[in-house]
Amino acid sequence: MIETERLILRRFQLADAASLAAYRNNPDIARYQAWPSPLTPEAATEQVRKYSEQDPEQPGWFQYAIELKADHSLAGDLGVLLHDNRMQAELGGTLRPALHGSGYALEVLQAILEHLFAKGLHRVSAECDARNTPSARLMERAGFLLEGQRPEFTRNINTGEWTDTLLFGLLASRWKTLTAR
Ligand SMILES: CC(C)(COP(=O)(O)OP(=O)(O)OC[C@H]1O[C@@H](n2cnc3c(N)ncnc32)[C@H](O)[C@@H]1OP(=O)(O)O)[C@@H](O)C(=O)NCCC(=O)NCCS
Repeated sequence: MIETERLILRRFQLADAASLAAYRNNPDIARYQAWPSPLTPEAATEQVRKYSEQDPEQPGWFQYAIELKADHSLAGDLGVLLHDNRMQAELGGTLRPALHGSGYALEVLQAILEHLFAKGLHRVSAECDARNTPSARLMERAGFLLEGQRPEFTRNINTGEWTDTLLFGLLASRWKTLTAR
């Protein structure tokens, strides 16, 4: 559906369930995320089935599977929440740990931002746990601005702790300026 130099963003398939569960069940990956962990094989299959039925052209979530071109393995996933007005979206995603530190996440983010702004979106937003330094650095590298920090805004689904949330935003006008260089 969307292709980059090293990756393909495509619809989820049932065959992705075991790979999805493998990285989502890694405590380091799940720590700051909004999904329940651990994920049983049955729950992973059900989750992937739901993802595979979503429609990226309609308001609501669409979860892309990120496939590594080199070996066709599942590299991670990227969720896009299109608002009802179809002019705003929110993003959230994960990369399996063996692929961290190689620029893959930035490659995905730049591709989805290009795709969304080309469709005429006005604004893209993203949030992360204030302690999630890799995620915050990724947002800023992609051009997002830090717009605020909400104290104890999110209750972690797995630990029950109240955590500060960083708010990031990127306007189409800023994206155009950044990519015109
Ligand atoms: C958030 C997450 C996707 C970021 O992944 P990441 O690997 O740090 O991000 P990138 O792919 O952009 O890689 C950046 C790093 O690769 C390095 N790099 C190596 N080759 C690169 C290349 N060709 N291009 C860009 N960066 C490259 C960069 O220097 C940078 O290193 P640094 O962090 O030491 O400065 C990852 O930490 C993750 O999946 N975490 C768990 C899930 C999660 O918390 N998601 C966010 C929820 S809001």
